[in-house]
Amino acid sequence: MNNRALKTIGLYPGSFDPITNGHLDIIQRASRIVDHLIVGVAENKKKAYFFSMNERKELIQDSISNNKEVSNNVNVEAFDGLLMSYAEKIKAKVIIRGLRAISDFDYEFQMTGMNARLNSNIETIFLMASEKHQFISSRFVKEICALNGEIKTFVPKEVEKALKKKLQKK
Ligand code: PNS
Repeated sequence: MNNRALKTIGLYPGSFDPITNGHLDIIQRASRIVDHLIVGVAENKKKAYFFSMNERKELIQDSISNNKEVSNNVNVEAFDGLLMSYAEKIKAKVIIRGLRAISDFDYEFQMTGMNARLNSNIETIFLMASEKHQFISSRFVKEICALNGEIKTFVPKEVEKALKKKLQKK
């Protein structure tokens, strides 16, 4: 068995449009559980994102690099198509998702069930969002910022800057 086969590769997929402190907290904690964590940034051609793929990836990368709590076993990669095909391609053993409120459960339950049918060897595990980040959502962060509200406590400073800059241009 080679070294790579022995390592537990975790995949944390999402839209990250943009990354929030809640996502960052999950990245931090997940990176301590697996040997190698891939943050998979989804590109769905039918979805209109606020930030481009490059911007979303860059904001995650910068937020990770500037955060001492995140270990150096994290990589940020783009993926399109089926999540489970991508998970197989990168040899992920587990998919990690964050759970905030009960309202997340239905969607996550369905997605996990269907993904398990596609490949039952890849487990999905859930990390509860920490108390501080329970309610943060990328959608509301964008809305609050667009309405000139304070978003400092919800997102990394790189994201705050990027959001303000982008909203000024629009
Ligand atoms: O952060 P999000 O938007 O909740 O992430 C959702 C994501 C990207 C994980 C989900 O939409 C996904 O897995 N997309 C890839 C397409 C896919 O595999 N669809 C079937 C899901 S059962």
